[in-house]
Amino acid sequence: MGKINKIGVLTSGGDAPGMNAAVRGVVRTAVFNGLQVIGIKDGYQGLIDKDIVALESRSVGQIIQRGGTFLHSARCDAFREYEGRKKAYEYAKEIGLDGLVVIGGDGTFMGAATLSEEFDLPVIGIPATIDNDIAGTDSTIGYDTALNTVVEAVDKIRDTASAHNRLFFIEVMGRDAGFIALRAGIGTGAECILLPEFENYHEKLEGYLTEKFTRKKRTGIIIVAEGSKVKAYDIYKSVQKGHPEFDVRLAVLGHMQRGGSPSAFDRVIASQMGVAAVDGLLAGRSSQMVGLRNKELVYMPLTDAVKVHKPLNKNLLRIVDVLSI
Ligand code: F6P
Repeated sequence: MGKINKIGVLTSGGDAPGMNAAVRGVVRTAVFNGLQVIGIKDGYQGLIDKDIVALESRSVGQIIQRGGTFLHSARCDAFREYEGRKKAYEYAKEIGLDGLVVIGGDGTFMGAATLSEEFDLPVIGIPATIDNDIAGTDSTIGYDTALNTVVEAVDKIRDTASAHNRLFFIEVMGRDAGFIALRAGIGTGAECILLPEFENYHEKLEGYLTEKFTRKKRTGIIIVAEGSKVKAYDIYKSVQKGHPEFDVRLAVLGHMQRGGSPSAFDRVIASQMGVAAVDGLLAGRSSQMVGLRNKELVYMPLTDAVKVHKPLNKNLLRIVDVLSI
């Protein structure tokens, strides 16, 4: 593997609070080590469209606290094809990149793993997605912030639920994983949580509604993960029809969950991972992801990070049953 003099950095996939802090970590560590850094705009698309910007230490000032990503992000269809990746690689070589740091979720990592299999460009991944669905890291950048955003929103909805004796179904993001739903449910004292990982909870819902009614508890919060087999809107409609004894409402939190200033936790792990990504490239690592396990930074193959399904903690789900009594 050749010497690393110049690296590229990009953010790709759905944005996550803390992406800016991660870019800052990468840029400053590179500058600290005497490297040149190129920011690539719009994820992999920027390598195809030749949309780049030279970055130095000052370019990443005042961004640690900002949500979104100043490099912009995209889900790049062209990069899924060999021709697109070849074009991206050729441009990376043309501008003299010796390594690349990609910040994003599993789609981003799949692209990075394929790129570094096909071409000789060392790539390190930093996990950033609100969904927290990347194996090999206890937490992805953005998850903690999104969770806190959801908790704050649900607390507000609960005020209305309680004032009007209403039953609220609240749909939260997470794609096909229930990490946000599970922890937000526990953190807000939700009466029930519907998760893609434990579909039998949908059956439990009926029992829950009957039991609640007999106990004259007509207010409540039911968190529904967007990836659940039965969609929040459909559950809401069927409960509205089948249980006229409840005053039912639906709230879909949507993209507000992706925005906002990153939490202290996300800023810190983003900074740590940014440093570790550049350290990794300098140490000759490639096609690896930086993760956080038991509070320690670890490296693992990108392919493992995307192949392995990250399990939900079943013990946490038990807590919901006990505490919503
Ligand atoms: O992966 C992050 C995420 O916000 C998911 O939770 C959600 O399913 C998806 O992205 C929404 O994507 P888009 O912003 O393209 O609608």
